[in-house]
Amino acid sequence: MELLARAEKSLIKAFDAASGQGAPPRLIAAMRDALFSGGARIRPQLCIAVAMACSEEEQALTDAAAAAIELMHCASLVHDDMPAFDNADTRRGRPSVHKAHGESLALLTGDALIVMAFDVLMNAPSKHPRRVLALLQNLSAAVGVPRGLVAGQAWECENTAELTTYQRAKTGSLFLAAVRAGALACGRDPDTWDELGDCLGLAYQAADDIRDVIADPQWLGKPGGQDALLGRPNVMHELGLTDGLAYFNQLMDRAVASVPACPCRELLQQLVRLESQRLIPAELIDHARHLPIWASSPERGSRHASLGMRSA
Ligand code: IPE
Ligand code: IPE
Ligand code: MG
Ligand code: MG
Repeated sequence: MELLARAEKSLIKAFDAASGQGAPPRLIAAMRDALFSGGARIRPQLCIAVAMACSEEEQALTDAAAAAIELMHCASLVHDDMPAFDNADTRRGRPSVHKAHGESLALLTGDALIVMAFDVLMNAPSKHPRRVLALLQNLSAAVGVPRGLVAGQAWECENTAELTTYQRAKTGSLFLAAVRAGALACGRDPDTWDELGDCLGLAYQAADDIRDVIADPQWLGKPGGQDALLGRPNVMHELGLTDGLAYFNQLMDRAVASVPACPCRELLQQLVRLESQRLIPAELIDHARHLPIWASSPERGSRHASLGMRSA
């Protein structure tokens, strides 16, 4: 089955099994909206692709791991859009969850999705309980303190935040967890995949930062110009457009090169290349050439385009 279709199916299956009977209908409706509203599903696809590369034997465990990562990601978007954080009215081209369902239900939706992510893993069918435990630990490390998603969002409450520390935590941690989960579901060493997860996570947030500055909100499906408005560290504010794009491309090249020798190397490399084009398509750069920012791009030169990357 195609990766995206399998990722979607695993999420539907996990949600149907974990949401059960008798829950408050408005909460379930908000949770459905948060999950099934057109996300790219890149994290679960990565998890599944890595498991395929590790010759998976328990597809149901991989599927649960992939669904858990996406549940956590969707929870983070619901909370991130709330007035206490980014106060965004739109997400994926639709009203954000708090706009459509109200703040109380949005808060509870995020909470319920986080709990569901752990629930789906705890109830995953496997002949290998140690693998399930390792997957649970992997997920909690990606979400908690000191370096998980929650820590990442909390850097926004400090007076200063170092850009890559902030971005590795808020976004990179879930990419790292996604690739590691693919290996852990197969009982393999997850460390082999760290470089891929790290480079992709940083590249992904770099692309999001660039898109925040140069893309049309309608095309983005969410508000633009948010990082300047909210005073968030942003790759393009630090590096300018040309160096920002070079930084993104360099990370993507490193991600492609980092894929270890394995049966699905080509598939994984293809997935990364396609993501690179999807995130920053040529048309977007053409569009940016006509913006005043192109001419006035700071090109500060004070920071090298390899900003914060781990040494190879
Ligand atoms: C958006 O993530 C939040 C960031 C980490 C930049 P995605 O771009 O993967 O969002 P969806 O799931 O496709 O909507
Ligand atoms: C990603 O950062 C935040 C999460 C961890 C959810 P952003 O705040 O830049 O993401 P968008 O731009 O709202 O999607
Ligand atoms: Mg946001
Ligand atoms: Mg953003």
